[in-house]
Amino acid sequence: MLWLLACIFGLLSTGSVHCQDEELQPVLTYYQGSSIESGLVADADGFHLNNKSLTIFSGALHYFRVHPSYWEDRIAKISAMGLVAVETYVPWNLHEPEEGVYDFGDGDREFSPFLDLDLFIQKVYEANLLMLIRPGPYICAEWEFGGLPSWLLRTPDIKVRTSDEKYTSKVKAYYDKLLPIIAKWQFVKGGPIIAVQLENEYGATGVNDKEYLAFLRDLYISYGIEGLFFTSDSPLGSGDSGALEGVLQTANFQDNPEGQLDRLKELQPDKPSMVMEYWSGWYDHWMQGSHSTTSVETFRDVLERIITYPASFNLYMFHGGTSFGFMNGANIGSSFPTYSPDVSSYDYDAPLSEAGDYTDKYTAVQELLEQYAPQKFLKAEAPKESDKLAYADVPLVGQLSLDELAAQVDSGDRVDATDVMPMELLDINNGNGQSYGFVLYRKSGVTIGERSVLQIIGNVRDLAVVLVDGESKTEPLTSTDQLNNFGFWEQSNASTTLSADASASHTLDILVENWGRNNYGSLNSGAFDQKKGIVSGPVLIDGTALSDWQIFALQFKKKWLQSLTGWQPIGDSVNGPVLIRATFDVDSAPRDTFIDMSDWGKGSVFINGFPLGRYFNLGPQRTLYVPAPLLVQGSNEILIFELYTPATKVVFSDSPILG
Ligand SMILES: *[C@@H]1O[C@H](CO)[C@@H](O)[C@H](O)[C@H]1NC(C)=O
Ligand SMILES: *[C@@H]1O[C@H](CO)[C@@H](O)[C@H](O)[C@H]1NC(C)=O
Repeated sequence: MLWLLACIFGLLSTGSVHCQDEELQPVLTYYQGSSIESGLVADADGFHLNNKSLTIFSGALHYFRVHPSYWEDRIAKISAMGLVAVETYVPWNLHEPEEGVYDFGDGDREFSPFLDLDLFIQKVYEANLLMLIRPGPYICAEWEFGGLPSWLLRTPDIKVRTSDEKYTSKVKAYYDKLLPIIAKWQFVKGGPIIAVQLENEYGATGVNDKEYLAFLRDLYISYGIEGLFFTSDSPLGSGDSGALEGVLQTANFQDNPEGQLDRLKELQPDKPSMVMEYWSGWYDHWMQGSHSTTSVETFRDVLERIITYPASFNLYMFHGGTSFGFMNGANIGSSFPTYSPDVSSYDYDAPLSEAGDYTDKYTAVQELLEQYAPQKFLKAEAPKESDKLAYADVPLVGQLSLDELAAQVDSGDRVDATDVMPMELLDINNGNGQSYGFVLYRKSGVTIGERSVLQIIGNVRDLAVVLVDGESKTEPLTSTDQLNNFGFWEQSNASTTLSADASASHTLDILVENWGRNNYGSLNSGAFDQKKGIVSGPVLIDGTALSDWQIFALQFKKKWLQSLTGWQPIGDSVNGPVLIRATFDVDSAPRDTFIDMSDWGKGSVFINGFPLGRYFNLGPQRTLYVPAPLLVQGSNEILIFELYTPATKVVFSDSPILG
């Protein structure tokens, strides 16, 4: 640490960085040298940047998963650990929320402050680090639809992630906004970006559309992006089926580093080895037994073998962060349950926890780099961890029933239709359909008798709650066995029995949650064209198709949440679906905290209008991370949309419970 003090002292006294050890410079400064002649090159004897040799030690940090007030802190922690580069994906779905409407931090949506990519790159630049960028357009990332916007699904027969012109024309329009930002921050232009990925794990798609990969590369080039270009896949799993001639192949894996890297060498003998995703931990699906973790010893051992192979690496993740709101992805498989949504936490058991705290893996990487790094650079000092606080329990102060919520849905977010339809096809949001949240299908004047049969033809995606005259007829989901029943994705054409007074007419409500779109896998399985809601229909009562529906898009956008009125007092027993309101005061500077949802059923939490995430009592995740910058000093509002049975108060915790 002595050299660091010497440098700081030098900076204070002379106004310039003057270090005791003249060799020790920050990374970017070192590679820029006195003039920038060339960008990253992958030679047979290793990577060279501006004609200096480089071993890439990088960490993944997704700006869209970390509150922007914490970007600097997390980037400094990357530097302090000894890495030289930051890697990020770019989520198309947030940057183009409606076709032709772009948000790079300048919108007024919930996520807008997270989307200032230009500012994020500037922070990496100011931290004097290098950067790898993976713009997709498909990013996987356990992110909603792998980062693709849901409005793509409105185009009939669109073949996403292929050279289908219906798809590539939309990529082109989006890249016209994105690529100038990347071009501007290239290393050769004085910025930190040294390498740009084409697509993502394209070898896992089961298609071999080289024309599409070439289209992406040529598009980058046409915006003046010089590279270095690369693809990433598992060499043992996909070989070079996701690769493009002349583009560097990199490897993704968690174990067997020699096997994977030897295979990569076979595929690509004259290039340096790089692991683009060394999986530092793993993500969680709802309903799995417990939080995924990997042992620090195994993690360290594999990383040591990667470094000594020798190979460059990017830790996926360095810091996972959070899939806030409705932004989690899902996996689709062939065995039960065939659909597995990801939890909101993206802790990933990484070197930094979801809340930015140091874990044992952080120390392990730091030690390995001290031991093996061929070159040392001036690092940031490790920032302190944030103080966590469990705020006092908060009483519930108001509620709105589903009916009261539906009555407040803007007319522009309501559709009258002869037949039910998936949320993506609703003519709302300027012709872009509904992307996220819940969709309510209402039919009034229905005759329901003693044992009437309700049947939904096709599938519900992903789960339905049925109400008759405002009263829920759906049992809370408390065991995975129930997924084989009516109201879930597993069954097609499922039916259930409803009982009511046959002499009266009734209002039938079917509320369907989009629990997150698939983000991974083969393009031939239908997994990349699933729509959400009641996806085909019709809906039948006693064999007769119902027509003339009112369809309500319950998107829970910030402006709408903050406009809600007519809050009713909390009664002795409250039944979902219901929106619950609670308020609490923060009387000094806000602190990082966690909301413990253990006693609630299933739903979503919003804090000061921001969509925090989902909760579900089958776990494994129990707490939702609340970064302090989402709170204000003064009065804060928590809204909770509960499908089944709410608890009686909101409880905070000063540490996470991820199960
Ligand atoms: C790169 O550096 C080597 C020696 O370090 C030198 O021989 C070579 O000419 C340089 N190449 C360029 C393009 O500057
Ligand atoms: C579901 O019902 C539709 C319409 O009656 C029918 O065409 C289809 O074959 C049924 N599917 C299954 C899996 O039974």
